[in-house]
Amino acid sequence: MLALFVAAIAVTTSGCGKNAESDPTSADGSLYALLKNNNFAYYKGENVILSPKGSSPHGPFKLRFNAKAMAALDSTGKLPAGSIFPDSSIVLKEVYDGDKLKQLVPMMKSSGANSASGWVWAQYGDDGKIIYSVSKEGEKCVSCHQANGNRDLTLSFDLH
Ligand code: HEC
Repeated sequence: MLALFVAAIAVTTSGCGKNAESDPTSADGSLYALLKNNNFAYYKGENVILSPKGSSPHGPFKLRFNAKAMAALDSTGKLPAGSIFPDSSIVLKEVYDGDKLKQLVPMMKSSGANSASGWVWAQYGDDGKIIYSVSKEGEKCVSCHQANGNRDLTLSFDLH
């Protein structure tokens, strides 16, 4: 009975446009579609699950980059200290529970709509559920990420 009730809620919320796949032209839908394109390279070329470090709230993850972002990385796979990513770069954190992909957590470099401190921030379930919409303008992400002013608000290069 409880399961039925929970399922009913899940159907209702996705019906209300809370799923990024339901409206591919929306800001959340178009970013989610870019992530699902999936031609993202792995950090240091290694398809491995990393353990969170420091103050990270994210859980075990794989770290990936679109081609724009890759172009900014040096031969060690890191963004050189003091550098910034070019516009439209996407740094994607894939959060895992065991070996199961749970969440897609992107930062997309932009000074346009929904951006905060030079990035658009979001969090999606692997099924497209919008957990943290771009429209929130990174209010819960930026304070932690700006702790490192040296690598364009990204934290992994100093921790991993
Ligand atoms: C309390 C601190 C904290 C908050 C809040 C936080 N992050 Fe992070 N984030 C981290 C840390 C630390 C890392 C480095 C990787 C690791 O060990 O998890 C990271 C890594 C990332 C990465 C990979 C690129 C990088 O910076 O290394 C992305 C993408 C990301 N976070 C997105 C977000 C988004 C989107 C939000 C808001 C919904 C958010 N983060 C909120 C601490 C935080």
